[in-house]
Amino acid sequence: MKILGISCSPRKGGNTETLLRTALDAAQANGAEVEFFGISGKTIHPCDGCLACRTKGECHIKDDMQELTKKMWQADGIIIGTPVYFWNVTAQAKAVIDRTYSFVFSPQRPLRNKAAGAVVALGRSGSSEAIATLNSFFTGHRMIIVGNAIGFGGEKGTVKEDERGMTSAAGLGRSMVRYLQTGKL
Ligand SMILES: Cc1cc2nc3c(=O)[nH]c(=O)nc-3n(C[C@H](O)[C@H](O)[C@H](O)COP(=O)(O)O)c2cc1C
Repeated sequence: MKILGISCSPRKGGNTETLLRTALDAAQANGAEVEFFGISGKTIHPCDGCLACRTKGECHIKDDMQELTKKMWQADGIIIGTPVYFWNVTAQAKAVIDRTYSFVFSPQRPLRNKAAGAVVALGRSGSSEAIATLNSFFTGHRMIIVGNAIGFGGEKGTVKEDERGMTSAAGLGRSMVRYLQTGKL
């Protein structure tokens, strides 16, 4: 059982990464093989709307999205992490989301029935909007939403002081493993 965590924060080692690694650690402790992929330092261009993927089934833009695509297709479960930027996901998260448009035109619908979850780091407000964006993404790909975790923090590492946020991140990791083992939420 493979669970992939994708951090869409441009800040390496920040609160999103802390929450996501907490979820992945809990999943690993419960028997999953886990992998962390951070977009920081990677190049994932935004979709340019050419729509060639509708006929070709793949995106013509060549960058680090090909590596991420392979990892997403191979995973049984995917947890996406993002900080809230202006009441929503980061531009980097949206670039990843939009670049998966090509998956919809791939005959096997590669993310269908995979387990999905979101972790969101924020200062104060906008978690609902960010979670809604990620849940729409999961639903669009016919994934099964297992849950989400929200952690409050500002400076790097401060999310660790949000005990409930950290606990819910670990809970998300465990829930995903349980779902993948039993088929039950
Ligand atoms: C450009 C920008 C926009 C932000 N917008 C919001 C916001 O709308 N709501 C909020 O609660 N926090 C906002 N924040 C704060 C971050 O969500 C918060 O610091 C988060 O913990 C950062 O996660 P990271 O350490 O993974 O980068 C913003 C931060 C930045 C840099």
